[in-house]
Order: sequence, then structure tokens, then C-alpha cells
Amino acid sequence: MRKIKSGKVRDIYEYESGYANELCFVASDRVSAFDSVIPGLEIEGKGRILTELSANWAEEIETWKNSEIETAYIMFDDEQIEEIKKDGIDYRYAQSQLALEMIPIEAVVRGYLTGSLWEAYKNGAREICGLKLPDGLKESDKLPEPIFTPTTKAPAGEHDENIDFGQMVEIIADADLVRLPDYEYDVKGLAETLREWSLELYKRASDYAEKRGIIIADTKFEFGLGEDGRLYLGDEILTPDSSRFWPQEEYKPGRAQGSLDKQLIRDYVKEQKAKGAAIKGLPQDLIFKVQNAYEQILKTLFPPEY
Ligand SMILES: Nc1ncnc2c1ncn2[C@@H]1O[C@H](COP(=O)(O)OP(=O)(O)O)[C@@H](O)[C@H]1O
Ligand SMILES: [Mg+2]
Repeated sequence: MRKIKSGKVRDIYEYESGYANELCFVASDRVSAFDSVIPGLEIEGKGRILTELSANWAEEIETWKNSEIETAYIMFDDEQIEEIKKDGIDYRYAQSQLALEMIPIEAVVRGYLTGSLWEAYKNGAREICGLKLPDGLKESDKLPEPIFTPTTKAPAGEHDENIDFGQMVEIIADADLVRLPDYEYDVKGLAETLREWSLELYKRASDYAEKRGIIIADTKFEFGLGEDGRLYLGDEILTPDSSRFWPQEEYKPGRAQGSLDKQLIRDYVKEQKAKGAAIKGLPQDLIFKVQNAYEQILKTLFPPEY
């Protein structure tokens, strides 16, 4: 395969043997926090778990009745598996997807008051992305309704900014997406679909996870346009890198929750930064904790079939 791009966590390849419409995404064991990669750190098996979880979610989404949501996920055929193996890549880390023209926003959905939203709320904010929040909420409280809180997709090293729906429409229009030729007429409709799909994905996935004892506090999706000009869900889907997962059993509002996701790493990085210390890898016990959390999410949400 030909590597065409490296993201913070995933490497993206084209197939030598054709498949012009597809890309191969290989999730590495790299770790990113606060928009940059932690140098020199790999967490063994992390990439495989991200790939398997996303693929399982894509399969689950396909089974949803009365849903218009399409994912870009494609099963490998034998020729592709051969090509991946020839490059010395473990195919369990790899996933084929339709090559999308990405829509340059991050589709964040939140069901609980945590993370940057809690930080803002604590400091008096009662509005996010043009949506009102009620008074009197505590840290980690369930929001009255899940909310769609999109952000910009900032260039490497810069931070994503919250935007309201109108700003999102403008950003999409200004992106001059070539696969949306009638964008001036249709961009609002596209943005509405993107918002609806995001909320539906969050709600239905949350129901699925809660039945298995896991709360999905929030998550982030990325969408793009296929060659047919239609909307598809791409990127990783509902992984511990892109979502906050809390064990239902221990859930108690009024404090931070025990995370089964990247929050474990963010907390450590924040702590080190506060001390003025450089981030050189992670302590071994934290690496084990992250491995266990990621593994537990995969096993709990999609138990292996015997
Ligand atoms: N189906 C797709 N087609 C084209 N690009 C995609 C698709 N799915 C995801 N992407 C893009 O591929 C990259 C995935 O690699 P990642 O390591 O997550 O990058 P980043 O550092 O930007 O988060 C992202 O830039 C994402 O927008
Ligand atoms: Mg990414």
C-alpha cells in the first residue's frame, strides 16, 4: 500500500491494487492528548482495540431499524488482506473505508455535564453552541436532553472552538466541498442531517451501552461526502479515544467519574503540565490501567462470541 497521510493516531494508505474509492486506515498504538501526540509512547494493543470497537459499532449501526445513517466502513476482501500482510501490517489494526471528502467540523454530542462543558458551566456559562443550559446542575449530571455541540477542526497544535449551528453551516459552505455542487442551496439541509445523525447515533449507542452497564457521557463523530455526494459516517466510531465511558455501577453526580477512556491520560498530562514537568511517556501502572480500560470497553460492549 502507499501511505498518503499520517494523522495523530491513524496512518492512511491507498491500495496499490486498485480500489480507487477506498482507503485503508491503520490505527497505531500512539497516544494523543490535548491535540498532540505524546512523544515516544505506544500502548500495546490500543490500535487494535480502537479498530475492533469501531468496526463492531459500524456493524451494530447497520442493524438499526428505521435509520438512514450510512457508515463508510467496508469489509476487506482477500486481496486487500494479502496486500496488508505483505506490508507487514497486522490486519486487526486496519480498516477499509470509502474515501470521503471530509466535512471540516467535529460533531460532538454530550449527554452529561463533564469535560470542557463542566469547566465552562462551573465558571457561570449557561450557554454552549447557541444552546441554553439550566441552572443548578452538578458535575457529571445527566443533561435534560443530549445536545449537539460542534467544534471547528483546528489545524495541528491549535484547539478546536465551539460553534453554533449557523457557524457550522457557514464553515461547511466556505469549505467549497466539490462533492456538494449545489451547496449554496443545500448546505443547510446537509448540516441538519449531520446534526440529526449525530444525535441519533449518540442516543441509540447510549441505549445499547447502558444495557451493558456503560454510560457514554459524550462522544465525537466525523462525517464526509461519498462520491455519490451523500453523507457518510467516517473516522473512528465511539471509541475510548473519541468518547467518555463511565461504569454505570459507580455513577454518582457531584464529582468526576471513574473513566474507562482517554480521560485517564488527559488527567495525568494535565497534572504534569501543572507541575511544569515535560511529558515523557506515562508511568507503567497508568499504561496498564489504560490497557485494561480499553480492553474492558471492547469486551463489555461487544463480548466475543463462542
Ligand atoms: N472515510 C474517510 N475518508 C477520508 N478521510 C477520513 C475518513 N475517516 C476519517 N478520515 C480522516 O482521517 C484522519 C484519521 O486519522 P487521525 O489519526 O484520527 O487524525 P487526526 O490527527 O486528524 O485526528 C482524520 O484526519 C480524519 O478526518
Ligand atoms: Mg482523529
